[in-house]
This record gives sequence, structure tokens and C-alpha cells, in this order.
Amino acid sequence: MNNDIVCIYYSRTGKTERAMREIAHALDCELVEVHDRVRRSGALGWLRCGLDAMRRRTKAISRLEMKRQLWEYKLVILGTPIWAGRCSSVIRGLLKRRGYEMADVAYVITHRSEESYREVFDQMDQYLKHPHAADVSLRPGSTGYVFWRDQFLRTCAELTGAELRPVTEELAAEANREAAASERPEVEKTPKKPE
Ligand SMILES: Cc1cc2nc3c(=O)[nH]c(=O)nc-3n(C[C@H](O)[C@H](O)[C@H](O)COP(=O)(O)O)c2cc1C
Repeated sequence: MNNDIVCIYYSRTGKTERAMREIAHALDCELVEVHDRVRRSGALGWLRCGLDAMRRRTKAISRLEMKRQLWEYKLVILGTPIWAGRCSSVIRGLLKRRGYEMADVAYVITHRSEESYREVFDQMDQYLKHPHAADVSLRPGSTGYVFWRDQFLRTCAELTGAELRPVTEELAAEANREAAASERPEVEKTPKKPE
């Protein structure tokens, strides 16, 4: 396992999680989920996410269960969905609280529209010691998804000297199912009681 890289992500409906799972697999590195205590499921949760993102409001985040200290990783790869044209409040919360501890950082954003949201990378950089080293803007289910993901992976491998593993058939099959479902409305990862 490559102990120089860690992938940290927040995912509300699983799309960012899948992208980060593929990236962590290819780089053979740790994958860590982060969340806050805000209820973000359902229609009310959706609204909360949008408002929190627009107001740049953040809450305390969960403990990061990692093998090493944040500053010990050569590269921290952060994955977030786009909310209202911004990074998710959860990843903003992580950056606000612990961004200064990170050495080199790479960003993975996922979104639904065809916009690339590159300005979000600069917004996220304000919490870091120095600007990020690599980034990718992914639209799950789009034709360019695999191309841009793989280009990002090559950049991360170059930055860290890591060897890349192919994304497995199992993960690719999951990606195809995701692509097929991408035209349907968003479905929550786990069914939740009405709010
Ligand atoms: C509150 C909210 C706001 C969103 N705003 C945008 C947006 O401005 N642009 C966009 O392309 N997608 C937007 N999305 C869609 C998500 O960014 C997209 O579906 C993402 O891939 C979901 O990732 P996840 O499954 O990891 O949560 C929004 C989603 C939510 C919940």
C-alpha cells in the first residue's frame, strides 16, 4: 500500500465516493470518509446543503481515521460534490479546520451540470498553506469521465512517484451502472424517514 497518499472525501449520494474509491484503488492508498453531524438527507437536507454552501457555513467534522498524521502524507486528495456552485460545506469544514496541516493537496470535484467549476479550486485554496498541486472536475456518467480521471491519476502518480494500478472491472462495471442511472433523479444512499 502507498502510505504517502490519502484520499479523503465527503459524498451525500455516492457519486464522489465512487470516484474516490476508483482513485484510491488506482493509487493503492487509504480512503477516508468525512462527514459532519448535520442531517443532509431528504428534501430538507438538500435545501440545508444548498444554504450551507451559499453561506459558507460549516460545522465540526468527524474524526479522520487515518494511519498517519495529515501533514505526513506527500499528497492529500480531497473529494467533494459541488453544491450551489461551491464545494460542499463538509469539505469546506475540513479545509477550514485542518487545511493548514496538509502538504500537497489535489482536488476531485463531482457535479451534475456540464460546467467545470474551476473557480471552486481557487476558493478551496484559501485554506491551504500553498496552492493545490492537481485537480479534476468530473461529471459522473459523462463520456469524458474516464479520460479526465485517468489524466488526474497520471498527474498524482508523477507528483508522488506512485505506480498506478488499473481500475478493476468490478469498479468499472459499477461506473457503468452509475452512468446508466445518471439521467434519473438523485437517489439517497440509504432510505431515510421523512423529515
Ligand atoms: C444542495 C445541492 C446543490 C447542488 N448544486 C449543484 C450545482 O450548483 N451544480 C451542479 O452541477 N451540481 C450540483 N449538485 C449536484 C451534485 O454536485 C452532484 O450530483 C454530485 O456528483 C453529487 O455527489 P455525491 O453523490 O457524492 O453527493 C448539487 C447537489 C446538491 C445536493
